[in-house]
Amino acid sequence: MKKIQIAIDGPAGAGKSTVARRVAKELGYLYIDTGAMYRALTYLALKKKINLNDGAALKRLLDQTSIQLVQTDDGQEVYVDHENVTSEIRSREVSNAVSEVATHKEVRMEMVNRQRMLAQDGGVVMDGRDIGTNVLKDATLKIYLSASVEERARRRCQELQQKGTNTDLAQVKKEIELRDRLDSERDTAPLKKARDAIEIDTTHVTVDEVTKQILSLVKERD
Ligand code: DC
Repeated sequence: MKKIQIAIDGPAGAGKSTVARRVAKELGYLYIDTGAMYRALTYLALKKKINLNDGAALKRLLDQTSIQLVQTDDGQEVYVDHENVTSEIRSREVSNAVSEVATHKEVRMEMVNRQRMLAQDGGVVMDGRDIGTNVLKDATLKIYLSASVEERARRRCQELQQKGTNTDLAQVKKEIELRDRLDSERDTAPLKKARDAIEIDTTHVTVDEVTKQILSLVKERD
């Protein structure tokens, strides 16, 4: 079986990372979570109190920073230089600031270079917002995962509660709607379904079912 590139895009909470990780595991592929890369830069920028409006300053910071995604048995660990920031990058503070960091063209260009390098040998499942439309335009399989905003907010709340964070569903829904707007209305590589992507609405579908559906699409392309 040849090793292909699989691009998975969609809005926050549509299930991209869970599904992408499962598909990668089944196929023995590398899973690349591009959102984690933007989150890692955001975490560091907040820590260093860099103005998130200043694209040039963020790009300088990125140039001096190594971001590593390390595969483990139960997922992925994220390192900024040598600091393990796996849980820190999922904080609400980072979640609410990351879309702003991701609007800057110079930041995106460098991220895209790094992402293409990671994917160059194939055998990858990459998830994000602009993978099918920009980063891996020639990916063999492109998936666009969607779900209603209510369901996505419910999933995020559940995730946060499992981590012991008290959450208000209405507030989380507002934060997701804001992130959707910033991600889809930005000038550079906005969130958009690629013309040749297959859309799967996950609102009423289990992770198992979505994974199966994607695996059978992979088989069809073999
Ligand atoms: O997938 P996520 O929620 O971890 O992504 C965090 C943010 O990063 C998301 O709101 C927008 C940005 N992002 C992006 O602009 N392009 C990508 N390829 C991945 C993420």
